[in-house]
Amino acid sequence: MLTPRLPEDSLLPFCGLGGPCPEVIPIIIPQSVKDWSAESSLRSRGARNNVRRTFPPSNLIARNATLRHAACSASIALALAVVAFAGAPITRANENRGTGPAANPLAAAKKVIIDTDPGTDDALAILLALNSPELDVRALTVVPGNVTAQQGLENALKLASLTNRCDIPVAGGAQHPLFQKLITAELWHGANGLANVELPASKCKADPRFGPDLIIQMIHDSPHEITLVPVGPLTNIALALLKDPSIVPLVKEVVIMGGSISGGNVNAAAEANIYNDPEAAEIVFHAGWRLTMVGLDVGDKTLYDQAHLDQLSKTHGPENDFAVKVLTFLIGQEAKYGAGGGSPMYDPLAVGTAIDPTIVSKQAMHVDVESRGEFTRGETVANRRNAVERNVLHGDRYVIEGLDHVEPNVQVCTGVNADKFLQLLNSRLAGK
Ligand code: BDR
Ligand code: CA
Repeated sequence: MLTPRLPEDSLLPFCGLGGPCPEVIPIIIPQSVKDWSAESSLRSRGARNNVRRTFPPSNLIARNATLRHAACSASIALALAVVAFAGAPITRANENRGTGPAANPLAAAKKVIIDTDPGTDDALAILLALNSPELDVRALTVVPGNVTAQQGLENALKLASLTNRCDIPVAGGAQHPLFQKLITAELWHGANGLANVELPASKCKADPRFGPDLIIQMIHDSPHEITLVPVGPLTNIALALLKDPSIVPLVKEVVIMGGSISGGNVNAAAEANIYNDPEAAEIVFHAGWRLTMVGLDVGDKTLYDQAHLDQLSKTHGPENDFAVKVLTFLIGQEAKYGAGGGSPMYDPLAVGTAIDPTIVSKQAMHVDVESRGEFTRGETVANRRNAVERNVLHGDRYVIEGLDHVEPNVQVCTGVNADKFLQLLNSRLAGK
C-alpha cells in the first residue's frame, strides 16, 4: 500500500477546545483519504482535470466534498468528533444591548460578527467597526493567530472596554489551528499583540459561550442578516461550519481578510491568515456561501503613512490616542522591516469593505487553498479564467480537447480606492 502524502503537521493533535493538548495523539485517517492521497500523488495534471470534469460545475459543494476536500476529510472527521465531544451548549445570544451606539442602530445597519486574532491591525479594524453607523457589531469572537487564544481574548475584552461596549459578547474560540501548531506573530504585533500599548484592565467580561457556537446561534437568530468578517485564521468559522452546515444559506455574506492572488507575506506564496490554518480556509472557501476575499495584495495598497498619522494626532480621545500609538508602532515596523512607505491596513480594509463595498473592485474567481505543496501550503490559488483544460487520454498521452468551466466561489478584491478608505478610517477614529 502507498503511504498517504498528508502534511506532517496534519498528524498534530487538534486541541481547539482548551485544556491540555497532548504532544501526540493517534489519528486514524480514513481509508478513503489514504487511497485518494496516495492516488493523487501519482496523478498527472491532466488526469486530475479529467476527474474534476465529471462533476457538474454548478454542484460546487458536492464536487468539493468529493475531490478538492478529500485531503480535508480526516480533518473534518476529527474536528467533528472533537466538536461533538465538547458538547458545548448553545445558549441564546446576549440580548443585553443597551448602552452603545448599536442600542439604536440604523435600520439599515449591517449586522456583523468579527472573528479576530487581535493583533494591531485587528484592533484598528475593531475600532473602525465600532465607530461606524453602517455596522451593527453583534459579537467579537477570538481566534488564535497573531497571539495566543488567551492573549487574544484579553485584548478583545480590553478593546470592548476601551470603546465602552461591554454589551457586545466577546467569546473565545479555538485554541489551536485544526491541524497544525499555532504560529504567533509578536514580532509584528508587539509582545502583547497590541503594539506593546498597555490598555487599562477590561471592565468587560468574556462571554462563556464557545465562539463557533455563538456564531451558529447568532446566524440562526438573524437568518440572512449576519455578515461574518473574519480577520484572522479561519479556524472558528470552519468549526462553526463543521458543527452546523445549515448556517451556510443563512449567512448574508462572508468578508475575509486573508489570502492573496499575487504572492504572500509569510513566504513567497502564502498570506498569514490562510497559512496559519489552511485546512480551515479550505472548508470556508468551499462552503458555498457568498465570500469576498480582501487579500494581502489589495491591503498592500492601503498604506497608512506619516501624513495620515499627523492628521489623526491632531484629535484626541481614548480610542483616537490608542490608535495613534498603534499606528506609530506599525509605521515604525514597516520602516524597519518593509519598504517604509507606510503600514498596510489589512484588517481595517476588510471592515471598510463591509462598511462600503464600493471602496473595492472585485472579480469572481474560482479559488482553491493549497494544503499540500512543499512551497505553497496556504496559498490561495485563483483561477482568473474560471476554466481548466480538458485533457483526454489518447494512447500514451493526453490531448487537450477543450475547456471546462469551474464555478467561481470567491469575489476576489483586485483594486481599492485607498485614499477614500484611509480617509474613512481616520474620520471614524478622530476624536473618539
Ligand atoms: C493578516 O495577518 C495578521 O498578522 C494581520 O492581523 C492580518 O489579519 C495579514 O496577513
Ligand atoms: Ca488579523
